[in-house]
Amino acid sequence: MDAAETRTPHTRTASYEAEPSEVGRVLLLYSGGLDTSVMLKWIQDEYEAEVVALTINLGQPGEDYDVVKGKATQLGAVAAEVVDAREEFAGDFVVPAIKANAIYGLGYPLFTALGRPLIAKLAVEYARKHGCDTIAHGCTGKGNDQVRIEATVATLAPELKVIAPVRGWQMGREEEIEYARKNGIPIKGGAERTPYSIDDNLWGRSSEGRWIEDLDHAPDDDVFQLVTRPELAPDEPRTVELGFEGGVPVSLDGERLGLVELIERVGQLGIEHGVGIVDHIEDRIVGLKVRDIYEVPAATILLQAHAELERLVGTIHENQFKPQLDRQWAYLVYAGLWWEPLRGHLDAYMDSVNESVTGTVGIKLFKGHARTVTRSSPNAVYDAALATFETSGGLFSQQASPGFIEIWSLQSRMAQRVREGNGG
Ligand code: ARG
Repeated sequence: MDAAETRTPHTRTASYEAEPSEVGRVLLLYSGGLDTSVMLKWIQDEYEAEVVALTINLGQPGEDYDVVKGKATQLGAVAAEVVDAREEFAGDFVVPAIKANAIYGLGYPLFTALGRPLIAKLAVEYARKHGCDTIAHGCTGKGNDQVRIEATVATLAPELKVIAPVRGWQMGREEEIEYARKNGIPIKGGAERTPYSIDDNLWGRSSEGRWIEDLDHAPDDDVFQLVTRPELAPDEPRTVELGFEGGVPVSLDGERLGLVELIERVGQLGIEHGVGIVDHIEDRIVGLKVRDIYEVPAATILLQAHAELERLVGTIHENQFKPQLDRQWAYLVYAGLWWEPLRGHLDAYMDSVNESVTGTVGIKLFKGHARTVTRSSPNAVYDAALATFETSGGLFSQQASPGFIEIWSLQSRMAQRVREGNGG
């Protein structure tokens, strides 16, 4: 197949979309997988452009970056860069998510949604460094990731253009494999079986496609490539103690660790004990409703521990209010608006609340469950002497309670009377 046969005629819809004539040097966000490998070659043919490949390490397990880099060079990239962005991802993206207890749609801890704005920001940096005029990515036209990447590029670098070949080319998986064969592109994992569509990083892993699209189909075992299936998890529970300072996780079982290592080690314990499997129906920002299988061991444990500690140090009013902002934060980030000023304002609130989120939480891991069993904080709004069922002396006046109840229930009592009067 010629490049010309694989492209749909396209007129620009958005200001940042590239006209073919403007494309001279392209920064390609390169994963080493089939789509972006085909793309690396296809862009050179289709646009007669040079390609710089950029691969970003966000802590996705089991990736050999030397191999990815070698493949990019072999396919004709004029430069191939690999960036280890794990520290920045953990510190500037995962930590704010922890402070905001970030979960979208009751189950998704946003690992992909947190990664994309960083990936796109780095694409802008490296595009400028290499004198590229255009950024290319491998997202389809049906997902959230195109929104996150293109919104970031358009916001941070109005001078750069974007191309998203998968959105326009007429190739399905079969045609891509044929194109790869013709062009000497090695296919990782063979071409026989359609794989799940995977995305992963330090904070979690998602699988989409195949039977997952059949809502009636319970998960096949082979989808779980990260977390141990709970039925195979050890018979002995394991309790982990997580330490936080100012809302940031700092220790595991009393040992102080850097963020990346801490997240990895907590994740590993979750993996062993079958913790963090989520079967999620999700409302995408582009309107589609889809199903994702998530494996999010580190996020499950750390988010639970953080939320637990935050509730312990917060007042009833803080604890009633913050979940509303947490939800708004998660929605904004899910929806690709990482650079929206509202997120900055929300983060200021999150930081303020989290100043007192210091202490430890013990979580017991057992066959897929994570249950909080201990909490401790110097800032706990808790006094055992006040809460006890034993007599609390003069600290809490039970004699004052009837007065409180009378006034607290005043409007409810008045309304009840009015209704009874109207009804009768
Ligand atoms: N549904 C999740 C999200 O929208 C995960 C997407 C995974 N991305 C992918 N390209 N497979 O963030």
